[in-house]
Amino acid sequence: MKSALIIYKSKTGFTKKYADWIREDVTCNIAPLEKVKKEDIDKHDIIVYGAGVHAGLIPGLKKVKKLVNFNDKKVIIFATGAAPNVEEIVKPVIDNNLADCVSMVDFFYFESGINYENMGFFSKRLMKTFSKILSAKKDKTEEEKEMSIMIMNSFDNSKKDYIKPLVDTLKKYLG
Ligand SMILES: Cc1cc2nc3c(=O)[nH]c(=O)nc-3n(C[C@H](O)[C@H](O)[C@H](O)COP(=O)(O)O)c2cc1C
Repeated sequence: MKSALIIYKSKTGFTKKYADWIREDVTCNIAPLEKVKKEDIDKHDIIVYGAGVHAGLIPGLKKVKKLVNFNDKKVIIFATGAAPNVEEIVKPVIDNNLADCVSMVDFFYFESGINYENMGFFSKRLMKTFSKILSAKKDKTEEEKEMSIMIMNSFDNSKKDYIKPLVDTLKKYLG
């Protein structure tokens, strides 16, 4: 019987929520990236890694690339982000983070939201500044207009339904 480990890095809780949802549907182990050791990776055939996009980057992915031999295991990566799941959002996330391993992994993007209450001081300040810059910008595109309003306050667009394609892939690998 094959085994899977879900590893997540979650600053404000969205990625943890998605990781917990996946675990509700599939028998597997789960751990935050900070607590994962090489021995934990070695014990599993399939590794799922998830984190929230920060300024286009997937935090913790460099560490995961060092810990996991992508040739040796099935690797599934998911990113959560405040922006909607559309090609012009998701393609740059793939290009910026997975250019060196895109053919070796399955990638999924899940729309989440913004949680100011759980955000650290610097992230909060960064988001508020970004929100102000965007609202002050002249000739905003429709997407920019929407985004500038959305990110002023906390919101949650996460839905358990979004995990289905990832769960199907994970079940297929578990056999
Ligand atoms: C500093 C900062 C930068 C962010 N940058 C992006 C971004 O580039 N694209 C995006 O879609 N969402 C962005 N977000 C929203 C997060 O990706 C979203 O809230 C994510 O689900 C957080 O996951 P976590 O709570 O598990 O860490 C950003 C949030 C913060 C605080």
